[in-house]
Amino acid sequence: MNTELVQIVEENIDAKAMEALKRAGDIIRSGGLVAFPTETVYGLGGDALNPESSRKIYAAKGRPSDNPLIVHVADMDSVSGIVKEIPEAARKLAKAYWPGPLTMIMNKSDKVPYETTGGLDTVAIRMPNNKIALELIRQSGGYIAAPSANTSGRPSPTVARYCVEDLSGKIEMIIDGGQVGIGLESTIVDLTSDTPMILRPGYITKEMLGEVLGSVDIDRTIIDGNSKERPKAPGMKYRHYAPKGELTIVEGSQDAVVAYINEKAKEARAAGKRAGVIGTDATKSLYRADVVKSVGNRQEEATIAHELFKVLREFDDEDMDVMYSESFDDSGIGQAIMNRLLKAAGHNVIRL
Ligand code: TXA
Ligand code: MG
Repeated sequence: MNTELVQIVEENIDAKAMEALKRAGDIIRSGGLVAFPTETVYGLGGDALNPESSRKIYAAKGRPSDNPLIVHVADMDSVSGIVKEIPEAARKLAKAYWPGPLTMIMNKSDKVPYETTGGLDTVAIRMPNNKIALELIRQSGGYIAAPSANTSGRPSPTVARYCVEDLSGKIEMIIDGGQVGIGLESTIVDLTSDTPMILRPGYITKEMLGEVLGSVDIDRTIIDGNSKERPKAPGMKYRHYAPKGELTIVEGSQDAVVAYINEKAKEARAAGKRAGVIGTDATKSLYRADVVKSVGNRQEEATIAHELFKVLREFDDEDMDVMYSESFDDSGIGQAIMNRLLKAAGHNVIRL
């Protein structure tokens, strides 16, 4: 299949961009797939109400079909059409955080095929905060099922280049809207139980949800790497991403971490291996290794969220044998950062 690549600037959706978005909408309405930017990560979109489209999404990603998809909408009226009822908590959260990086789980109506929900009676719904995505949803008939636009097991794409790498030849169109703003997937909150529960941490933190809802639980399995329980979001049971090299997170005071990592990088080199380091703006110059990258600025954790997946992808392109990363504070958005980093490292952490 020939994959068309289209460039659109979010701040300038002119007549030409509208024409491309209309065409993209036609592709989705007729059962095809389009990768598109959202504010979190790129999505791989198909018609959420068409079982055949969902099957194609699983096939293009190489994703197990028991892992449900998120349905993306552009307005609240569309939500009413695909759920049994909209819980009061959902209305409040939508008012506070939609459009935005928050996915809510509700009880589905018969309109949503089981192919989209991985056989579940619940559906995950999100209204993304990106003008290209919102217009594409409207042009596509109102409901786009979209997982992250990566091959299953690779980091979610935050630039279109990685959608091209993973999906070229497998889908009809890729819309390049530049690097995304947030860089980590949305927070998922389940509203089908008595107390709302976070199933995946993201940019909308537990504290932010608590401000609107009062009390919120968090699925323990996502913070406890040794938990034997099954995560409640089926996708969270998979190791998101196994880097080509072995990744270790090193925790401790800055001086101890730098000294430890430099020693390990030296040992690796002596053994004929290539070593990489994930540091920060403040520490990048202190490391001695084959490749050293900064993932952002500790004082502004959003910069780390923004760069993390890109840095992990870049390391894969560099053929590293071993990689060491600094550890991050796990409060606020740090909880989402550490959740993704720990998964990438297979929970391999050295505490100094
Ligand atoms: O930011 C995002 O959420 C991005 C962009 C494209 O919107 N999408 C995304 O989709 O991250 P995906 O498919 O990579 O992750 C969806 C997660 C999976 O872990 C899946 O198991 C969970 O949501 N999920 C979906 N529907 C669910 C449901 N009904 N109950 C529990 N978990 C669900
Ligand atoms: Mg994903």
